[in-house]
Amino acid sequence: MTLNDKKVKELFPILSGNIVYLDSAATAQKPKCVLDAITDFYLHKNANPMRGLYDLSITATDDYELSRKACARFIGAADACEIIFTRNATESLNLAADCIGATLTPDDEILVATSEHHSNFLPWKKACERSGASIRFLDCMPDGIMTPEMLKAALTPKTKLFSVAQISNVFGRINPVEEYAKICHENGTLICIDASQSVPHIAVDVRKIDADFLAFSGHKLYGPMGIGVLYGKKKLLKKLPPFLRGGEMIDYVSKERIIFADLPHKYEAGTVSAADAAGLRAAIEFVEGIGFDEIEKRELHLTELAMEGMKKIPHVRLLGGYTPGEHNGILTFTIDDVHPHDIAAMFAAENVCIRAGHHCAQPLHLLLGIPSTVRASIAFYNTDEDIEKFLSVLATIRSQMGYE
Ligand code: ALA
Repeated sequence: MTLNDKKVKELFPILSGNIVYLDSAATAQKPKCVLDAITDFYLHKNANPMRGLYDLSITATDDYELSRKACARFIGAADACEIIFTRNATESLNLAADCIGATLTPDDEILVATSEHHSNFLPWKKACERSGASIRFLDCMPDGIMTPEMLKAALTPKTKLFSVAQISNVFGRINPVEEYAKICHENGTLICIDASQSVPHIAVDVRKIDADFLAFSGHKLYGPMGIGVLYGKKKLLKKLPPFLRGGEMIDYVSKERIIFADLPHKYEAGTVSAADAAGLRAAIEFVEGIGFDEIEKRELHLTELAMEGMKKIPHVRLLGGYTPGEHNGILTFTIDDVHPHDIAAMFAAENVCIRAGHHCAQPLHLLLGIPSTVRASIAFYNTDEDIEKFLSVLATIRSQMGYE
C-alpha cells in the first residue's frame, strides 16, 4: 500500500487533531481497524476461550488461535505452538528468565547487553540471584555499536544465555542478531532477543535469526496494550517448567499430582486476553497490508528530514551518529545546558509529544556518563509537517532558557 500524509492521518483517528506524536517507541497509536477488532470480539465473540462446549466459547477459542497463527506467520515461527501470549514484552522476558532461571546453577553465567531496557535486565538479574549464577554485561561503544567480535570475546564456556535487543530503544540501531545467534550457538549459548523496538519497523524472522527466544509487545506494533508475545523454540519450551500456575495450563490435577498441558497452553495460566489478541491480529494484518518496504521508506525519509534540521541547530547532540538508516526512527539527543525534562516540557507546551529521562535504560546512561536524554521517536504515520513542527520548537529551546 502506498501512503501519503493525508491517508495516514485518516487511518489513525487520534492523530486527526493538531497533536504531533513523536513517542511511538513508548507506545504506538492505534489504527481504527484495531479498535474495531477489539469491539467486534466483545460484541460478537465474547466467551471464555477453551472453557465452554457451546458455540460462543468455540468461536472465542478459534478467534484466539487465529491470532496466535497470525503472530507465528508475522515472525516466521515454524509452529503456532511456539507463540505464547503474555501481557507485554516485560512479562515475556520475565517468563523466559524465570523458566531458564529454574535450570541455572551457581556455575552458570547469563550475559546481557548494558544497553538493554530494564525489562531485559532485571528478570535475568533475579534469575541469577535465585540460582546463584553470575550476571555479566556486554558494553556497547559510545555510539551503540556492539560488534559480533565484542560478543565473541565476552562469551565463556559458562555462558548459558545472551539476552539483547534487536533494536535499542535509545539508539535505534539494528544489532546484528543473526551473527550474534551463530556465535552464541557455536559456544553452546542460548540467545534471547527483545524485539519490542524492531517488529514495528523491520521484518523479523525468528528462523532466519535462529533465535531461541524472542519477545515483543502488541502496543508498540499498533496493537492494544495488555498483549505481548514470547516466541520460544518448541524443543526448549517443551522441556522448561511453566511460569504462572492456574487454570487451563494443566492436563490433570489431583492433590498429589499435576500434569501440565501441552504447548502453548502450559504457559498461559488463567483467562487469556482474547480481545487484545484479536486487536493484535488486526494490527499485524494492517502492517502486512502496508508492507515493510513502505514503512521503512516513510520512516527513513522522516528521519532524514529530522536529522538534516537537527544538524543545523547549535548545541543539539544526537546519540548514535548522523546516518539516518541507523536510527530506525529513534532520535535521542541532549541540548547543552538544558535539562531533558525542561526540553520535554517546552515541547509539550507546543503539543509535541516526546520522552525525556533514561528511557528505562539507566545502566546505558551510566555507561555513557549522561544522566538523561530526550527521545523523539518516529513512526510511519508521522508527516513532514510533524517533523517541521518538531524542528521549529527544537530551534527555540535554548533561547527559551535564556541562552544565546
Ligand atoms: N519501553 C518503552 C520506551 O522505551 C516504554 O519508552
